[in-house]
Amino acid sequence: MKYDGRFGQFGGCYVPEVLIPALEEIEQAFYKYYKDENFVADLDALYREYAGRPTPLYYATRFSKLVGFKVYIKREDLLHGGAHKVNNCLGQGLLAKYMGKTKLIAETGAGQHGLATSMIGALLGMETKIFMGTVDIERQSVNVHKMKLCGAEVVPVEGGTATLKDAINEALRYWTANVTDTFYLFGTACGPHPYPTVVKYFQSCIGTEARAQCLEKIGKLPDIVTACVGGGSNAIGIFSAFYNDKDVKLVGVEPAGKGLDTGKHAAPLMAGSPGILHGTRMYLMQDEEGQILDTESISAGLDYPGVGPEHCLLKDSGRAEYVAVDDEAVLDIFDIFTKCEGILPALESSHALAWVYSQKGKLPADATVVVNLSGRGDKDVGIVEKHRPTRTKTQTNTD
Ligand SMILES: Cc1ncc(COP(=O)(O)O)c(C=O)c1O
Repeated sequence: MKYDGRFGQFGGCYVPEVLIPALEEIEQAFYKYYKDENFVADLDALYREYAGRPTPLYYATRFSKLVGFKVYIKREDLLHGGAHKVNNCLGQGLLAKYMGKTKLIAETGAGQHGLATSMIGALLGMETKIFMGTVDIERQSVNVHKMKLCGAEVVPVEGGTATLKDAINEALRYWTANVTDTFYLFGTACGPHPYPTVVKYFQSCIGTEARAQCLEKIGKLPDIVTACVGGGSNAIGIFSAFYNDKDVKLVGVEPAGKGLDTGKHAAPLMAGSPGILHGTRMYLMQDEEGQILDTESISAGLDYPGVGPEHCLLKDSGRAEYVAVDDEAVLDIFDIFTKCEGILPALESSHALAWVYSQKGKLPADATVVVNLSGRGDKDVGIVEKHRPTRTKTQTNTD
């Protein structure tokens, strides 16, 4: 491979030998096409006319009043398919087409990446298979129906906790046996090289737009940029544009599930240690013998024991700060934000909003915060209603 895909001690490409040629082929194709005039024009047109880019930067008036400082929302929830995942799927899908591949496979947790891959499979006329844990199939069933409507086959995965980790295991296993005609469209800025680099590139449109929109709309850069962190693609997509703006604080929010002290969470940056899974070295939830621990989060898209290698380096270097919020706070903010703004946030994105809400009374009135609203919460209405009777916290008045 031309580049080793290392981020300090993290990243790399720890895969069975049979997958190395396929990953090298993707790496070569990416560097061949990502600045190619035709590829750029095709992707740009799809971003605009198919996905709906650029997305607005919206000033959340009532939510800002509630928290006592200025909150701007990057509206990735408005994209076709309902989440940022379409950015990466259009990029990698087009790359697969340019490479002459005819079949796509993908893993999915919340179903947003599975849906986006299925949409792009239909758009580009490619046979599509989506691997999904049976727990996630049940809790995100609306997206499963949508994937099937797009013509994709949804392959149920029963092993392990039957969530995202197990779906990736199965997708990698399938790819190992079908590498020649199949392109593995990986859904987050994680996995073996070149995926963390490729996914970050296709998601960097979020940050590039948001930075320019801040300058145009607010007349300055924000004090804080925040996003939820699962594998890490929406966060790296918005953070990357602000790396060199040292006064802009970057805050990634992990899922504390039932609480960091309970062990029932999915927060490897907060509570994990370096290890290798799914082809990359990263902070990982593992025991002393390196066995992967079961994760738990109300949000299927964040329910993963690892995190993209670049986030691991950003944490160690101190350029970004990582925090965690629990399921209760996420359910609370889902209600609060929806009542304030009339926008249903995905449970994943609600993690970032819940952290912003926790800063009420701590940040000055002139502080400016940009939140990446990575997706819309329509898929989560059933989960929120299911938990309502067992909730312990009192709801906050939004007036
Ligand atoms: C709406 C939404 N946000 C965030 C995520 C987490 O993924 P990532 O950390 O790659 O952005 C997901 C994953 O499914 C998602 O659906």
